[in-house]
Amino acid sequence: MYNLLKGKRGIITGALDQNSIAWKVAEKAHEEGASFVLTNAPIAMRMGEIKNLAEKTGSEIIPADATNVEELTNLFVQSQEILGGKIDFVLHSIGMSVNIRKNIPYTESNYDYFAKGIDVSAMSFHKMLSVAKKLDAISEGGSVVALTYMAAQRTYPFYTDMADIKAMLESIARSFGYHYGKDKKVRINTVSQSPTKTTAGTGIKGFGDFYDYADAIAPLGNADAESCADYCITLFSDLTRMVTMQNLFHDGGYSTTGVSSEVLEKMGIKA
Ligand SMILES: NC(=O)c1ccc[n+]([C@@H]2O[C@H](COP(=O)([O-])OP(=O)(O)OC[C@H]3O[C@@H](n4cnc5c(N)ncnc54)[C@H](O)[C@@H]3O)[C@@H](O)[C@H]2O)c1
Repeated sequence: MYNLLKGKRGIITGALDQNSIAWKVAEKAHEEGASFVLTNAPIAMRMGEIKNLAEKTGSEIIPADATNVEELTNLFVQSQEILGGKIDFVLHSIGMSVNIRKNIPYTESNYDYFAKGIDVSAMSFHKMLSVAKKLDAISEGGSVVALTYMAAQRTYPFYTDMADIKAMLESIARSFGYHYGKDKKVRINTVSQSPTKTTAGTGIKGFGDFYDYADAIAPLGNADAESCADYCITLFSDLTRMVTMQNLFHDGGYSTTGVSSEVLEKMGIKA
């Protein structure tokens, strides 16, 4: 290990179980010397797995529904008390679409579900940043990362309303990144991750086929949750102190590959 986060204090959202990307980020942040608070929606806490992660990493858990400004305020106030100072890094690893859960086609989206998806998966990022800024809870040069997916740039029919929601999330990173950067040099980026076998990921219709397809396209293959966590750690570290307002692809080269010899072979075309 490199002690990249030695002495840094963080807040990590979204660790549901061992497959969660946030779970891996917490393990790596611990290995790199950070202290942090774990948080998730109160309903996710009942499953109890997060307690094992808290024990393993010596962390406390503060429940907070990411759509609720009051609970987010409590999260930032309490985290600073527990960790003994301002927050140096925040991971937003939250995603949920009711339209996807209920298998509703994009063109027939239910608008109450759509609004819920926006609130949970994108507006929550704005709320989190706004609460932190009002409380002046993030230290100068601090780093905030949210996880996103390439459907924000290219169409994947089965990703339905989440594509629009991720586009909004990425836009919030840029817009808030400007203001928070000017005021406090706080960096805000999104990491656009490969398909990953997690609860949120595998909940998407046809995920298995799409996972295999992306794996066959990307020269390095799909990036797994552990390597995503490594990338997030570099973004939390001082080594990336001038990187902000970016959408950073972490996908084994998928996003810039047109076609691969594997895919052509599957189509019966000799590369
Ligand atoms: N798995 C993939 O293929 C993939 C690819 C690219 C990006 N992502 C993104 O990575 C992030 C993490 O997802 P994951 O794949 O690790 O799945 P996951 O299911 O393990 O994590 C999603 C988390 O969101 C939390 N959450 C849902 N509603 C919430 C609320 N109201 N308040 C607070 N937390 C809430 C859940 O409890 C869960 O911990 C998401 O933003 C997802 O869109 C995932």
